[in-house]
Amino acid sequence: MNITVIGTGYVGLVSGICYAELGHRVVCVDKDLAKVETLQNGGIPIYEPGLQELSVKNMAAGRLSFTGDLRDAVGQSEFVIIAVGTPSLPNGEANLAYIDGAAIEIAEAMNGYKIIAVKSTVPVGTNERVAKLIRSRTPERFDSISLPEFLREGSAVQDTMHPDRIVIGADSDAAAETLKQLHLPLTDNIVVTDIRSAEMLKYASNAFLATKISFINEIANICEKVGADVTRVAEGMGFDKRIGHAFLKAGIGYGGSCFPKDTRALIQIAGNVDYEFKLLRAVVEVNQDQRMSVIRKLESIFDGELQGKTIAIWGVAFKPNTDDVRESPALEIIQYLIRSGAHVKAYDPIAMRNFRTMYGDNGVMWCDEALEAAAGADALCLLTEWEEFVRTDLGQLQTILRKPILIDGRNVFKEADVAETSFIYYSIGRPRLN
Ligand code: UGA
Repeated sequence: MNITVIGTGYVGLVSGICYAELGHRVVCVDKDLAKVETLQNGGIPIYEPGLQELSVKNMAAGRLSFTGDLRDAVGQSEFVIIAVGTPSLPNGEANLAYIDGAAIEIAEAMNGYKIIAVKSTVPVGTNERVAKLIRSRTPERFDSISLPEFLREGSAVQDTMHPDRIVIGADSDAAAETLKQLHLPLTDNIVVTDIRSAEMLKYASNAFLATKISFINEIANICEKVGADVTRVAEGMGFDKRIGHAFLKAGIGYGGSCFPKDTRALIQIAGNVDYEFKLLRAVVEVNQDQRMSVIRKLESIFDGELQGKTIAIWGVAFKPNTDDVRESPALEIIQYLIRSGAHVKAYDPIAMRNFRTMYGDNGVMWCDEALEAAAGADALCLLTEWEEFVRTDLGQLQTILRKPILIDGRNVFKEADVAETSFIYYSIGRPRLN
């Protein structure tokens, strides 16, 4: 099939490259010509394991190309995917300006029947809005499809090539069947629904996963008070197939470009039809508060006085294996420390550059190595569970810090290993050591 993907953000780029890997001829379009040039030269503007190799391979095979010329790309394709961003508006609602813009440009480029799918996460009714925008501008026939995406950053290629399910929201049986055939090489779990249900399904999935995280984080907070261990609690709960082990890792709350934005948007979607989504509001509130659990621990150690203390931060990405720092819990933690008069030394293997570009230097001393950040600090806070941190030699680490105080915001260290050191060790939802 000839496919155009509009938008080379995470979703668009990964999908486009993976469709090419399946043997289709794919053109990825972006308005940002500097990005297009990077991609044409075999570069990848995001950090995503395995993606660059796949891009270069498929470009060399002549199946994948990048352009700023939407009209030309759409003109050559029978399947057009909209994968542009839907950032949050100040009230939490999704901003559909890029979606509308893409729809209008597609309409102007129509030269025959096409299937037009929206892969961006969009409020219920957006596919109808896109169809209306196109229909009012062109007499050409087309079918609308809602094709939500479920990939995770950091394992995007794996998730796309081996998805748990593909969801196709359609009001045309023929178009649904065409897309079903297109996706069958990836999985047999293909769910065909009406368009509105597919749009809702995406938000419901992310909201449910966010709920699991806030739930286990609250259990963790209670565990700390009653002397239980949340990792054991989650392990035992997870064996119940109805609960499952996934997304029960307690920590400092979810971040990233999806959960925070999508939970806020779903609260708004519900609000727009006079429904108050109370549970999801609580999920968001718990998540916000969970970021401060690291601060509360530091304050209890230093009797509320962070002024003049040197605090080392390990990890500013919202999760490991990505350079994405959008809505990273690290931002609020660092800003709070700086406001409190602490000196912050920070290190992240991949995401420091993005963090500084997006949020400025924040008065932080940025370090080239993990141990350099830890050197001379009064306490070390681990905020992202990068493998490099997990493999740290705790014996060596304790000699480098001024005081052996470790706040493990992701529960990465084994208690038995910590017990062999003199670390004062706080984690999330597990008993304090020493
Ligand atoms: C998430 C979903 O997992 C994808 O299915 C979805 O396609 C994507 O959003 C999206 O809507 O585009 P992503 O944001 O890449 O993917 O990252 P996740 O791996 O889901 O992690 C999200 C956050 O939850 C991270 O901050 C992570 O640290 C946190 N988390 C995750 C926990 O705190 N505990 C857990 O047990 C799992």
